[in-house]
This record gives sequence, structure tokens and C-alpha cells, in this order.
Amino acid sequence: MTATEHPPTAAGAGASATQVFRSARTEDHATPAVSAERTSDVVSAVLDGVHAAIRAKKVTYPEFQAAKQWLIEVGEGGEWPLLLDVFVEHVVEEVASEERNGTKGSILGPYYLPGRPKLPSVTQLPMRPGEKGVPLVFTGQVRDLDGDPVPGAELDIWHADDEGYYSGFAAHVPEGNLRGVVVCDGQGRFEISTIKPAPYQIPTDGPTGELIEAAGWHPWRPAHLHLIVRAPGYRRITTQLYFEGGDWLDDDVARATKPELVLDPQPRGDGGLLARYDFVLERAR
Ligand code: DHB
Ligand code: FE
Repeated sequence: MTATEHPPTAAGAGASATQVFRSARTEDHATPAVSAERTSDVVSAVLDGVHAAIRAKKVTYPEFQAAKQWLIEVGEGGEWPLLLDVFVEHVVEEVASEERNGTKGSILGPYYLPGRPKLPSVTQLPMRPGEKGVPLVFTGQVRDLDGDPVPGAELDIWHADDEGYYSGFAAHVPEGNLRGVVVCDGQGRFEISTIKPAPYQIPTDGPTGELIEAAGWHPWRPAHLHLIVRAPGYRRITTQLYFEGGDWLDDDVARATKPELVLDPQPRGDGGLLARYDFVLERAR
């Protein structure tokens, strides 16, 4: 574990994530109208799975009561977004991406903040003076399935700092730090100066962390950049990019890595890194 002055607190991150989820649903995550038939169908399947696990594992009354107590704490700690995004969202994304082409998607996670300021195609993400971390230039192009550039593409990008904290969810990180909406040039190109994020640790002091510890699992996600790539007339892609050779790449607690989403940054000669990635969007249907 990385020793830091600001251990991640579940209370801070969880409560903020719950508040953000309530106030700012993204287009892809708006509440749909669901029929009684669909509700019954899906909820019955979920309950069947729970019942089957109880029978298979011969779950006892004390275990059932401990589970209830824990679930109450997940709610009280505001940790539902953290818990669901880390343990469940990857399968929702897998299903959603079955009928999609272009760049692979990944989970949104609990730390997206919409409405960040627009930045030009060659830009630096907002950061503190002397922001810690290895400087990273992230460059590439947004193209369509035919390989033609997509004009007017935007990269909504957000990532953790060099200690694994996200602005908006850690009190000591300034608002808007390492977040922005980069507007690509007429050829869909972008060049973003930032720093390489650190691996992210699920806050260990809340109920999600307690479960991870009780089960003997680890709380880490590999270092990653979050992106929503969008352009008028195209389906938006919510994805993440990882770093070749990084810790936890093959053992992400959120199971959200894909081999196609790994950057291979090269040294620039000045102590910094240069990573290139081209995105492919498909037309909206
Ligand atoms: C969680 C945090 C992340 O940064 C992420 O990308 C996915 C999930 C979480 O704490 O649940
Ligand atoms: Fe993340």
C-alpha cells in the first residue's frame, strides 16, 4: 500500500459519489421506464441467484444477519455507487458492448463529473502548480469505422492524481483538478499534457473495504485514464485506458481492464512519457 498523508476515506468518497449520482446522471445512465414484466423477469433472476447461493453454501442465520447489518452500513456510508461500480458494472458494460463496434468500452465508475470546462485540442489538464507525478503527453486521433477523421469530437477526460485521488471526491484536491473536455481539431486530433495517475485503492475504512478485507481480497485498481469520447452523429464511448506493465493490470478489483485498452507510453527523453491512442467511433443508430 502507498503511504500517503491523506488516507482515502470511504466516508468522503462514498458520500460524494452518492450525491453526484443523484444529481447528475449521464445520458447512458438515465433511469429508463421499465415494464412490470421486465422488472419481474430481472428481479426474479437476481433473487434466484441469491437463493441458489444460500442453498449451495448453506448460509446460516448469523451469516444472514451479518449480511443485513453490512448492507445497512453500505447505505448509511453512501457506498452503493462504489460497491456496485467496482463489483457489478463490468458485467453491465460487457453486455452493453456486445452489439457495439469501434473502441472497446469500460466502466464509468463513480467519479465522473459532467460539465467540466472545454479545452483546446492541444492542451494541459487543469492541475496544481508542481502537480506531482511523471509528466504524460497523451495524443491521438478520433476516427470513424472507415478510418476517416471525426471532426468535432470531444474527449471528456478525468483521472486520479499521483496518489490515486480524484478531484471532487477527496477534500485536499482542488475542484476540477485533472479533469476537462478536450475539443479535438478538425481532423479529430488531440494532444493532452497531464501526469501519469497512480493505481487507485478502494477506500479501506468503509463497508466495501471491510468486505474486501474480510474476504482476503485486495482493494486495488490499476492506474487508468477515464474517457468519454463523443461527437455529433456518433455513439459515445465510455472507456478507460491503462498502462503497460503497471501494477494490478492483470488483477483489477473492478475487472474492468481489456487488452485493447492498454497504453504503451514511451520515454520522451525529458523524464516524461508520450502515449498515443486512436479512438474509433461508430455512427449513432
Ligand atoms: C471505483 C473507482 C474507480 O476509480 C473506478 O474507475 C471504478 C470503480 C470504485 O471505487 O468503485
Ligand atoms: Fe477510476
